[in-house]
Amino acid sequence: MCGIVGYIGHREAVPDILKGLKALEYRGYDSAGLAVLSHEEGKVKCVRSVGRVSALESKLRENKDLSGTIGIAHTRWATHGAPTLKNTHPHFDRKREIFVVHNGIIENYREIREILEREGHKFTSETDTEVVVHLMRSFLDDGHTHKEAFLKTLSMIKGAYGLALMIRSDPETIYVARHSSPLVIGKGEGENFIASDPSALVHKTGNVIYLKDGEVAEVGREDIRITDLSDVPAEHEVVELERDLKQVQKGKFEHFMLKEINEGADVIRSACRGRLRVKDKAVNFGGLRDVRNELLKIKRIIIVSCGTSYYAGLAGKYIFEEIAGIPTEVEQASEFRYRKRAFIPQTAVLAISQSGETADTLAAVRVAKDSGILTLGLVNVVGSTIARETDAGVYNHAGPEISVASTKAYLSQITILTLMSCYLSERRDQEVLDLMEAIDSLPKKIEEVLSRSKDLEVLADKYHKYDNFFYIGRKYGYPTALEGALKLKEISYIHAEGYSAGEMKHGPIALVDGNFPTLAICLNNGVFEKMRSNIEEIKARKGPVLVLSNEGEGGMNDLADDVFHIPRVPEPLEPILSMVPLQLFAYYIGVKRGVDVDRPRNLAKSVTVE
Ligand code: F6R
Repeated sequence: MCGIVGYIGHREAVPDILKGLKALEYRGYDSAGLAVLSHEEGKVKCVRSVGRVSALESKLRENKDLSGTIGIAHTRWATHGAPTLKNTHPHFDRKREIFVVHNGIIENYREIREILEREGHKFTSETDTEVVVHLMRSFLDDGHTHKEAFLKTLSMIKGAYGLALMIRSDPETIYVARHSSPLVIGKGEGENFIASDPSALVHKTGNVIYLKDGEVAEVGREDIRITDLSDVPAEHEVVELERDLKQVQKGKFEHFMLKEINEGADVIRSACRGRLRVKDKAVNFGGLRDVRNELLKIKRIIIVSCGTSYYAGLAGKYIFEEIAGIPTEVEQASEFRYRKRAFIPQTAVLAISQSGETADTLAAVRVAKDSGILTLGLVNVVGSTIARETDAGVYNHAGPEISVASTKAYLSQITILTLMSCYLSERRDQEVLDLMEAIDSLPKKIEEVLSRSKDLEVLADKYHKYDNFFYIGRKYGYPTALEGALKLKEISYIHAEGYSAGEMKHGPIALVDGNFPTLAICLNNGVFEKMRSNIEEIKARKGPVLVLSNEGEGGMNDLADDVFHIPRVPEPLEPILSMVPLQLFAYYIGVKRGVDVDRPRNLAKSVTVE
């Protein structure tokens, strides 16, 4: 979603906050803006532009006079109001005294705006955020101090916010606050930084403070004062940030997405490192040690997640039930959080989230915690809110995922879910031992598939002009079909639907004709013959079919229009290996259709609003 950056120190603010904005651009990119306070002139200069951060940068080149050592900036993913200049942050009051950037949604902004408009406040944007500056203005005009006005403003607004606010007459402080939207303060020497995501700080400092919900900070050059909403000082911990600068560069790849798909083998190795010991027939998770006894008594697991992480959860459900024999449900977090649920005792809720900040998944964790349920996290971003709020958990250690479409995190999530199923199971029979060995050798198979990327580029060339696509699969091929279709629609804008193959004849097959291709996942497994029949049914209706299959017998060359082969793996690992060619296929189609695959329209990396 939106990204926030701020700087207060002894150096020029603009280069630093611009660098931070660029690091956050993958989170939202409808428009961007910044405000810098010049000490000498006692003025705040604000520059905003529609489009990418590069458009803001061009505008800044025309505005040479942007000197100042305190500034805030924002990259926007529009929620309230179109991505126009007037809706771009920072927002400010009529006296150009108060400047604010905001991530989240102020749910009661309409009521507040009506009241303020009746009092004579003139709004210039359609955003929910603008109420903040007018509320501040109103409290300052009533004679409150800056901090009092800030706290009073926060007490009025409902919803989610990560806020950074600067006041022209207060060149020593940036005011920040957090409620359900991440906010991090980076500590430097005689300078401090603010960001909605630590990835924007990694170039500047290794020490950060994660603001908690309901906390407010006055960030000065030297000091950081953190309180609650009643101005009572709050304890805070300075945490060391993991620095991994190499991973936030594209390197030799044209796009982050391609780079991240190519990291598939490595993320599996990282997921297994220190956890899977094939020779000892053992799987261990340090992060679950404290709850191990509780976990061994678990009667039901409910996986909550969104989007790609939800599809990983769907694969996880099949794996948990097959390998560990634990009844497992998977539910979209946005549904889980609002419906009344009947929990049985000894249930664990497992939240899966690459970012660890997805608003619905976080809310689902909180609902579970409020019901006294054990909560676990499977999270990639170290130190993220879900990682911190769950009772115990496992990190993916997949490294930063920058491309908006999730790729490597998906592979890592299913790998860890498979390892978890072995961890939760007492079974060490041949099937489980074979599975452990197969996980260990999976990276090599992924590398083999990646080495044939060119074949997928050729297939993408053949199929990229279609307007529609079905993805079908059965059993472990079903989550793969759903995720494959999601990848294609996100980064090519082709209408793509994922279905369980058995459902096709209950309606969707009505759409099939010579212009509606199907990608079928038909591997040499227990559902091979069933899949083959479904493909026959599509062929009988003249639908072009591209099949993902295994080599050798049942290779599908006789039936399919096109085939891409992958090596054979035990069924629970099929969703991992199958996804690599589907990611590449979607990637090449997106590129051929001229889409900015790393930053497709209307999407944002970290969905911190519901
Ligand atoms: C799709 C994609 C999204 C995310 C979803 C959940 O490519 O990236 O569907 O998977 O927004 O995000 P996380 O995993 O960060 O909770």
